[in-house]
Amino acid sequence: MTFQAPKGVSEYVPPRSALFEEAREAFANSARRACYGAMETAVFEDTALFVRGVGESSDVVRKEMYSFEDRGGREITLRPEFTAGVLRSVLENNLHKGALPVKVWTAGPAFRYERPQAGRYRQFYQFDLEAIGTQDPAVDAETIAVGYDAYTALGLRQFTLLLNSLGDPKCRPAYREALQNFLRGLGLDAETRERIELNPLRVLDDKRPEVRDQTANAPVMMDYLCAECKAHHDTVRGLLAGLGIPFTDAPRLVRGLDYYTRTTYEFDHALLGAQSGIGGGGRYDGLSEDIGGPPLPGIGFAVGLDRAVLAIESERALAPGEPARRNAGCQVFGVPLGEDTHRSMLTLVTALRRAGVRADMAFGARGLKGAMKAADRSGAAFAALIGGQERDHGTVRMKDLANGEQHDVPAAEAAAWLIERVLR
Ligand code: HAM
Repeated sequence: MTFQAPKGVSEYVPPRSALFEEAREAFANSARRACYGAMETAVFEDTALFVRGVGESSDVVRKEMYSFEDRGGREITLRPEFTAGVLRSVLENNLHKGALPVKVWTAGPAFRYERPQAGRYRQFYQFDLEAIGTQDPAVDAETIAVGYDAYTALGLRQFTLLLNSLGDPKCRPAYREALQNFLRGLGLDAETRERIELNPLRVLDDKRPEVRDQTANAPVMMDYLCAECKAHHDTVRGLLAGLGIPFTDAPRLVRGLDYYTRTTYEFDHALLGAQSGIGGGGRYDGLSEDIGGPPLPGIGFAVGLDRAVLAIESERALAPGEPARRNAGCQVFGVPLGEDTHRSMLTLVTALRRAGVRADMAFGARGLKGAMKAADRSGAAFAALIGGQERDHGTVRMKDLANGEQHDVPAAEAAAWLIERVLR
């Protein structure tokens, strides 16, 4: 019998994995340039961390967590998101007692038991960035700029930044009540009525047209912000404008996790259909206290790397696999033909690799035709051939795979000849 990956697991194999790496690296580079440090954190945590952090009224906690009891009787959950675990680790390692804000990024798999479909998986991948320890609105704008610049560096153009504020514990209760009063007066179904009591803001997020129609005139948080939250929001808007980052005010934008306060945002892609959210985040000024820590404001975002890959493919109109040629494909492919040529070829490709060239070679007893086909498929710019004749003459035959031109080069100069041409 053969096995298949469990339902809803997103995997990447060559050549498409090159695009995944490209996406992750674009965000990592953008974060490094803004002096965010890398972290690796627990893939599984105490279930209570997510219940208290992400929130009991969120769908993530109520319906989507991979939770189990381990062999020692501990309640464990595979991380459905990174923020709660990153903050837990920052507190545990006392990073918040040093210079603030603590600026960190991480990336890896996350797990949510959702209905799998294009762009929605049970094991998916996030890039996550957090700035912890300041309420300065400049850091809100900084996190957005780091994300925006990475999407742009990946060549993405057809995305929109949606911006909102969810207020704080001072002004949100009055809004929540006003929204509940409005929603209770509508003819909504039983499940949605339950949601009005539990998490009324999420009703604004309902995608069904009959619900949308009824909630079109619902009150919005923007009209209830207290003076401090309003000033914070106006400053963030002004900073983004100053950075040349276009955004759309989205007064109905609510997020799926309970910890958000003030600034919230999402990056939405135009070509991805139902799963258009390619990233999102916001402030979580009360999260540290929710998980037993000191008062410590924070803000961050996560990118759905799977969706970023889909967005790149849709904008570049790429056939799966195409990017491997540009980014991760080989630059030189060695073709050893006949006996006693594999050793000198391995020596040549190793010298090339040590100089920073991506080099591969044909293994096994391949004939010329098969080996040249492998060379073509590798995406290399040059094939380097050593057959019986070259071995006897102490040369290597170089073939430019773009135009077919050939040159015989003395073996001692072969590595330098190739390095000169591919690394320039
Ligand atoms: P989130 O909006 O739940 O936020 O997830 C962030 C991104 O992860 C989404 O925009 C989406 O691209 C991707 N994503 C979420 N669920 C799935 C799924 N089932 N399959 C594929 N992609 C998915 C958070 O997770 C917050 N922790 C972000 C944050 C960081 N807020 C503050 N700091």
